Amino acid sequence: MHHFNYEDGRLHCEGVDLNEIADQVGTPVYVYSTATLRRHARVIAAAFDGMECLIAYSVKANGNLAVLKTLASEGCGADVVSGGELRRALAAGIPAERIVFSGVGKTRDEMALGLETGIHQFNVESGAELIELSEVAMSMGVVAPIALRVNPDVAAGGHPNISTGKSGDKFGVPWADAPELYHQMKALPGVEAVGVDVHIGSQIGDLEPMRAAFEKTVGLVKFLREAGHDLKRIDLGGGLGIPYQDSDSPAPPSDYAQMIREVTEGLGLQVILEPGRMIAGNAGVMVSEVLYHKPAPDRTFLIIDAGMNDLMRPALYQAHHDILPLAEPGAETPRTTYDIVGPICESTDKFAAQRQMPEVAAGSRIAFMSSGAYGAVLSSQYNARPLVAEVLVDGDQFALVRRRPSFDEMIQLEQMPDWLT
Ligand code: LLP
Repeated sequence: MHHFNYEDGRLHCEGVDLNEIADQVGTPVYVYSTATLRRHARVIAAAFDGMECLIAYSVKANGNLAVLKTLASEGCGADVVSGGELRRALAAGIPAERIVFSGVGKTRDEMALGLETGIHQFNVESGAELIELSEVAMSMGVVAPIALRVNPDVAAGGHPNISTGKSGDKFGVPWADAPELYHQMKALPGVEAVGVDVHIGSQIGDLEPMRAAFEKTVGLVKFLREAGHDLKRIDLGGGLGIPYQDSDSPAPPSDYAQMIREVTEGLGLQVILEPGRMIAGNAGVMVSEVLYHKPAPDRTFLIIDAGMNDLMRPALYQAHHDILPLAEPGAETPRTTYDIVGPICESTDKFAAQRQMPEVAAGSRIAFMSSGAYGAVLSSQYNARPLVAEVLVDGDQFALVRRRPSFDEMIQLEQMPDWLT
């Protein structure tokens, strides 16, 4: 459920006309709905009510500070994968004790930052990382709380580029190595095993692979407890998918929560979840303006002012986003078929091929629905295009929460070597 609807023939985010935002801020622009973010956070919290559970919102999905602050006010923690994300989460007011640090390539500086700030847990992904973290923690005279991320060798389905739980994926330690690594951890100074972590992929609609991976992981927790490890937590990662189009029917959050209740029942474990897309996905759209119609012998290209640098998902994962005109099509509006493309000089700069939709005129605007997760965070300045702007709506008000940089700002990190001046 989200808060983007037509009112009086114009697409609104909550009480704000998206055209008004586009007029003031320009396009392309991401627009996020506070009510939708809050609703998703509350639905998830309610689904896990009564369980000892930490909802650590996955910052990688949408790390805008205003989005993070909104979620912090709902009691969310954070799942971060870099020092930058950790700083963002802290800057937005998410308490360190509600932050988990994931990722396969943490540097010593990032480890030190996590230890200094006192985060809840490090999700460690290799024996080498374990030794490094032990050294850093020892040098600081502290103890790092650790969950080892295990690779359960379970295929999640979904797009191969976002599947992480098969052996052969770079994520997690090989299943068979886990007991030995926990054993080694006991002898290592500066580290303490507090739990086990698993994450098998993203945009997963089917609960069965998740259940299989979670059951396997619970089995490992029991085995390790019997071997004398005092494990208190299980981190089940993120990954529940969202509907991007009518034909998608991912499991509802309530079923997901019920499955997790069943799998973890009676173990007395804190359950940590790292949802990203499920919270931010449907809470955002990207608005773009139609520049030109370009007829070709077998198709019509709709050329818009957003490029793959602004929304990478179609180019990277062949992802589908519903596209709605900001002006509500009437019964008399003809339907047509477009290839919708951006201005970037790459053939992959294509948002949709042969998309059937209402006719839209040059100068009118369209919205890419469900772009709140993995949208703006993946944007770049390719083709020397300014980073896309972001706006947050709350009821009848809206605010620019990341402005477009000026050209001077874009080039200020560069300098001429002496020999060229
Ligand atoms: N935890 C870990 C360890 C992860 O790797 C991820 C996502 C999450 C949590 C959050 O997963 P979510 O709840 O959002 O599914 N750029 C891709 C998605 C990449 C996901 C990476 N990891 C996309 O646009 O579909």
